[in-house]
Amino acid sequence: MDRNELYIKGPQRMHGELLIQGSKNAALPILAATVLGKGIFILHHCPKISDVEHMLELLIDAGCRAYWEGHMLIVDTRELRNYRVSGNGAGKMRSTVTLLGSILGRMHQVEIPYPGGCTIGKRPIDLHLRGLEQLGAVFEHQEHTLLGKAALLHGAPVYLGFPSVGATENVLLAAVLAEGVTVIHGAAMEPEIVELACFLRKMGAKIRGEGTPVITVEGVEKLHAAEYIVPSDRIVAGTYLFGAAMTRGEVRLLHVPLSHLGNLPGLLGQMGAVVEAEEDWIYVRMDQQLKAIPYVVTAPFPGFPTDLQSALMAALSTASGISFIEEKIFEARFQIVEELRKMGASIASEESFALIDGDDRLHGATVEARELRGGAALIMAALAAEGETFIRGMEYVCRGYENINEDLKKLGVKEINAGAGNKKENP
Ligand code: UD1
Repeated sequence: MDRNELYIKGPQRMHGELLIQGSKNAALPILAATVLGKGIFILHHCPKISDVEHMLELLIDAGCRAYWEGHMLIVDTRELRNYRVSGNGAGKMRSTVTLLGSILGRMHQVEIPYPGGCTIGKRPIDLHLRGLEQLGAVFEHQEHTLLGKAALLHGAPVYLGFPSVGATENVLLAAVLAEGVTVIHGAAMEPEIVELACFLRKMGAKIRGEGTPVITVEGVEKLHAAEYIVPSDRIVAGTYLFGAAMTRGEVRLLHVPLSHLGNLPGLLGQMGAVVEAEEDWIYVRMDQQLKAIPYVVTAPFPGFPTDLQSALMAALSTASGISFIEEKIFEARFQIVEELRKMGASIASEESFALIDGDDRLHGATVEARELRGGAALIMAALAAEGETFIRGMEYVCRGYENINEDLKKLGVKEINAGAGNKKENP
């Protein structure tokens, strides 16, 4: 079997208890933030995923040191000297762009290659740049890289036309060391923004209002090193919850902040699942065929997350009745449709709309993961399907899921076999 393939024989019921890995989307901006202070940072519960490894390559290339002890990541930023972000990971990962704000804050200039990431749409960075320009940065577009300079970063009002997660993070990162007060209007309210603000506060930053559309930052002269626990990944948790629902399973996921899940428990309840939850765990059991959901639209937090839209679609393709999904965040996020159809799903999609005519039985097939979240959703579909499924493109899934086949084994899945593309034990 190819090293980036996964084989699953279904149907298999997900059942058991699992501690959920650290969050990719929280860890990456926190790692970017470490460059704002000189010192030794300690991050607990950090996910060992390829996106984090790529971010570390960039930090190391810039002069930092980093090493792992289990899931504790130690980052030493004292010797940071390079404002040019290169390294192998640079063009591959969307969150390279988050280094714009933090390296500008520390070194007053920055150069990054145009950011990569999943193939889920155009993903422009105009809001990032406009926000940073408000704080005094000037950008020069070169053939392959973007060069930013800011002799002096100063506080300013910043109006984001859309609550972009990345742009909010970037402005926040640049504002903490800027002179004066920055007020971000129309800020993203995602839990990852709250985590970043909490981490920056631990470094000595003065921030208030995170988790609301208006964030106020009072610039400080200096930041110091900090220790932090990365929260568990709400998208990984959500993926497994849909998997449990589709396989008529019963799972308890631990170390999951309920406040990060938004309306997900309610939606699972609407689909017919029994849901129990407390502050940091959630239990889901499904005893019947899923019920269709007439209309779900993806939206900024606390709306339904675009990152779980593929897992929702996979689940609804096994529900009784017709469901309708509208994708409002990214324009190319229905790439899973064709693959689910190979497994017998009946889905019609046009532009940002998908209509799913659910049926209890999917069947195994050879399918292709084309992006991170869609790939994980295909794995959930394979568990619910009758017969053998080969999933290619597992390298996408490894960007965000630390060891999905081991997680699934802990959740009672037996007939699963990964090529070496899945994460190795503690490298
Ligand atoms: C982050 C998450 C990603 C999630 C997304 C939305 C990380 C590493 N990634 O991505 O998993 O799917 O939030 O919750 O945290 N936009 C612009 N101009 C900009 C910036 C964004 O037009 O300058 C548009 C994008 O094209 C997209 C929408 O805004 O249509 C949302 O993007 P944004 O919230 O910025 O997502 P990311 O930060 O890229």
